[in-house]
Amino acid sequence: MSSELEIHVYPDLESLSRTAAERLIDRAQEAVAGHGRFSLSLAGGTTPRTLYQLLAGEYRDQIPWSRVHLFWGDERCVPPDHPDSNFAMVDEALISKVPLPPENVHRIPTEKPVETVAEAYEQTLREFFQPAPATSFPAFDLILLGMGEDGHTASLFPDGSALEERERWVAPALAPPTYSSRQRITLTLPVLNRANDVFFLVSGASKKTVVRAILNDPEQASRLYPAARVRPRGRVVWFLDEAARGAGA
Ligand code: 6PG
Repeated sequence: MSSELEIHVYPDLESLSRTAAERLIDRAQEAVAGHGRFSLSLAGGTTPRTLYQLLAGEYRDQIPWSRVHLFWGDERCVPPDHPDSNFAMVDEALISKVPLPPENVHRIPTEKPVETVAEAYEQTLREFFQPAPATSFPAFDLILLGMGEDGHTASLFPDGSALEERERWVAPALAPPTYSSRQRITLTLPVLNRANDVFFLVSGASKKTVVRAILNDPEQASRLYPAARVRPRGRVVWFLDEAARGAGA
């Protein structure tokens, strides 16, 4: 197991999510104390939903919501009320239940024509992170990421063109044919790697083969799995449940 990565293993998704919530709250309070706001990029899919519910529930009063700005690491090109929408999942689990100013919710505008969405979202980011950072990529305070069984993260899929993007902050992406909503919008790898903190939330036995490959040999894994290429300038913390870590690893 590489000593470079911070790894925490929990009995189940609930305990994983609870600790991630507590660490997120620490980062939010540090960011607000440090520079007056907390820029948080959210993961989609199903794993982070428990975390979002905890933030809206028992941890609700520990977060300075008026200073929190929500973004999405990726989105499916469907309407914001579609069952596949990452925004819809976060809206139901979190946004609809906390006192977050509407102007602090920076949704990927998938109602626009597909070919314009990535550029429109990049403009949203440029306006928020102005003046444009000297490094030419925005530094989110925290980016939450999940990981698919194929090692994708956000909508950066193995062998996908978006994975190789090195200039744009936001890019269109195409999920493999096995996915229901294939047309995606995603933050690019340079943006993920510019974050101050990255939390991976990974749960379930279906992920253990890739998790084991990444944690045991990150260099070799980075040639196969996009998630292994997320090595931010800041810290990357892997929150795993025992099923994803694999017993007797
Ligand atoms: C998405 C996510 C994606 C997700 C992984 C894991 O839009 O689907 O952003 O990167 O994190 O596919 O998804 P699960 O948490 O559902 O396993």
